[in-house]
Amino acid sequence: MGAYDALKEQILGYAKYAAADVGQVAGARDAFMQFKELLNSGHVRAAEKLDGVWQVNGWVKQGILLGMKLGRLQAGRVESGAEGSAFTFIDKDTYPLRQFADDCGVRIVPGGSSVRDGSYLAPSVVMMPPAYVNVGAYVDEGSMIDSHALVGSCAQVGRNVHLSAAVQVGGVLEPVGAMPVIIEDGVMVGGNCGIYEGTIVGERSVIGTGVILNGSTPVYDMVNNTIHRRTEDSPLVIPEGAVVVAGSRGLKGDFATVHGLSIYTPIIIKYRDARTDAATALEEALR
Ligand SMILES: CC(C)(COP(=O)(O)OP(=O)(O)OC[C@H]1O[C@@H](n2cnc3c(N)ncnc32)[C@H](O)[C@@H]1OP(=O)(O)O)[C@@H](O)C(=O)NCCC(=O)NCCS
Repeated sequence: MGAYDALKEQILGYAKYAAADVGQVAGARDAFMQFKELLNSGHVRAAEKLDGVWQVNGWVKQGILLGMKLGRLQAGRVESGAEGSAFTFIDKDTYPLRQFADDCGVRIVPGGSSVRDGSYLAPSVVMMPPAYVNVGAYVDEGSMIDSHALVGSCAQVGRNVHLSAAVQVGGVLEPVGAMPVIIEDGVMVGGNCGIYEGTIVGERSVIGTGVILNGSTPVYDMVNNTIHRRTEDSPLVIPEGAVVVAGSRGLKGDFATVHGLSIYTPIIIKYRDARTDAATALEEALR
């Protein structure tokens, strides 16, 4: 029996109700609140690596969706000090802003960032403004979320990851069986990258500035003369230590030839070496 099996059964039971009815079901809100605390503390995760393989925890995603169904719209406001210019917002009351204790060890630099309740930031995570962490996200120790970055719903970010400015880590909440985006330990994601649709970025790889990865992007590996793709059984996986840069490839066909068309494609130009380490070295003092 897993530690949270009883709660899991409760969540799955309540998740069967329609949004219009579940609010009246005794115990549903309490079970959800208990579940959300386990998300906040990192004890339950939308996906985890078991015996070296990433597994989706579908019941966790069901629990997050249960919170959406249970939520009632609630207005909030942050006073600016000037009359008539309060910052107002409206969201489900089940997903307010995440509250942090003074001694939580997380650093959230002021300036427009939001962390949604039901997400985990380990002690020593640093978040530069503005950035957004959505429900179900898990960010492990020593990671940096730079300005204008998004950590989408259920995304799993490992230890000592650097998400550079404007990185978009897409959310994958539905379908409940779908793998969220995974960024493994020690990965450096360069500025303006977008990682979507359950892509798994392997340990210590480096995603060069401006690379976009989704379930439809083949990744050309110049070192191993192979093409990495999503298959029916597996999401797109970037191998450990790969250095991926934004490239292009010529399109086939008369029309493409006449017009000299090419299409964007990510390319593994090399695997990480001392030069890459030097190019991606991070200043400890900033952390
Ligand atoms: C990927 C990166 C780290 C370079 O890695 P590296 O190991 O130092 O790469 P190298 O300099 O050895 O380059 C290897 C080859 O790839 C090419 N290359 C390197 N980075 C490239 C990039 N981003 N786009 C296209 N080609 C690139 C080089 O020209 C070189 O090709 P060549 O041998 O034909 O000249 C760097 O390009 C990068 O994207 N850094 C992230 C910067 C960033 O976004 N910072 C965020 C701050 S908020």
